[in-house]
Amino acid sequence: MKKQFQAIRGMNDILPNETIHWQHLENTIQNIAHQYTFQEIRFPIVEHYELFQRSVGNVTDIVEKEMYVFEDRNGDMLCLRPEGTAGCVRAAIENGLLYNQIQRLWYQGPLFRHERPQKGRYRQFHQTGFELFGSAQPAADAEIILLCARLLRALNLIDHVTLEINSIGTAEERAKYREALVAYLTPLHDQLDADSQRRLSTNPLRILDSKNPDTQALLKNAPTFNDFLEEASIKHFETVKSLLSKANLSFTINPNLVRGLDYYCHTVFEWTTTQLGAQGTVCAGGRYDGLVEQLGGKPTPAIGCAFGMERLLELLENKPDTAHSDVYIAAMDENAFMLATQAAESIRSAHPNLKVYVHMDASGIKSQLKRANQHGAHIALLIGEQECAEEKVTLKYLQNEQAQAQCALNQLSGFIGEYFEKLL
Ligand code: HAM
Repeated sequence: MKKQFQAIRGMNDILPNETIHWQHLENTIQNIAHQYTFQEIRFPIVEHYELFQRSVGNVTDIVEKEMYVFEDRNGDMLCLRPEGTAGCVRAAIENGLLYNQIQRLWYQGPLFRHERPQKGRYRQFHQTGFELFGSAQPAADAEIILLCARLLRALNLIDHVTLEINSIGTAEERAKYREALVAYLTPLHDQLDADSQRRLSTNPLRILDSKNPDTQALLKNAPTFNDFLEEASIKHFETVKSLLSKANLSFTINPNLVRGLDYYCHTVFEWTTTQLGAQGTVCAGGRYDGLVEQLGGKPTPAIGCAFGMERLLELLENKPDTAHSDVYIAAMDENAFMLATQAAESIRSAHPNLKVYVHMDASGIKSQLKRANQHGAHIALLIGEQECAEEKVTLKYLQNEQAQAQCALNQLSGFIGEYFEKLL
């Protein structure tokens, strides 16, 4: 036996019975993006490694230990994109999309992180991201968060998630806060978990994110961001909060919310659920006013977020109808294929919204009807010897008690139309 290949760990096939749910999610997202006048942008999966070092940050988990990095044949250090914002900003600068204008972009696609796979955490996963460039107004923060809420509502998920927000201020405010946090935690060094001990000298703000209960207990009396925000930052955050409240959106303020990527400032937020175990964040984002300049563009304020598609799908209970076909055409023998194909094509021309399936392998009526039922079909067309001789088809109704009928090929689309019109 020849060797069988397996997919790479943490990288999943999306099978036909799942793609239907993906399409439903993608369509819903597209509608919301249109409603909020975001335009789609597509950019490559492979980028220069340095792009992420400079944006996401050298001492973040993503860059330190999760990237798929490789040298290509030219000797360039490239990587599979671990997130979308940096590539989106790179593409927007390179193509002059940010010049003196507000730009609203959205994207969708695969990302790659070499994390330990578990439910809700994969090495190839998919995000839909929204990025709004050119506005420093709190209204832009609210616009992005309200877009998220509308999408979650459209998916009937709003009651399953909680919105947490925080302000991490400006770079200067963060530097002062970092100093105060280090001063508070240094004497407690030995009581911190190993990861936090390491972070104390590399990226101390990430200690706030620690899942370790002992570390969290130590943080109870630590200084918070709030103590270090100056007037302008406080005002910005207050306005964001009141815009959300005015829109009747409930949220909680999580003073320990810092996010794991270095480019954020001011408002940061996460939508989380308790229904997915440890991987409960379905959407995350924030403001990143310094990033465009950091990547070589003109100073441009920006805010954005990204949804984890796999997590949204795992949360979706009311998956859409998975009927495989509406009309199932059962050809009983090889001679019947001619009439079956003609029948299928005439229905497809007359009723473009119906799903019409032709069984391509002559087999018994019983097994074909069984399969038609598995498809969730409404009508099975039976075409056997007698039908071929008389140039007719037999219609068998599978979802109600309606009596079986026969009709000529040229009457077929009328019969089909009459049935499905009644369903609407
Ligand atoms: P992030 O928090 O790294 O942010 O990822 C956003 C979302 O992607 C997460 O909340 C989660 O739903 C999903 N996600 C992340 N890693 C995995 C994984 N290994 N498996 C499955 N899902 C995952 C960003 O990527 C930022 N670029 C978001 C952003 C856009 N900020 C501003 N604009």
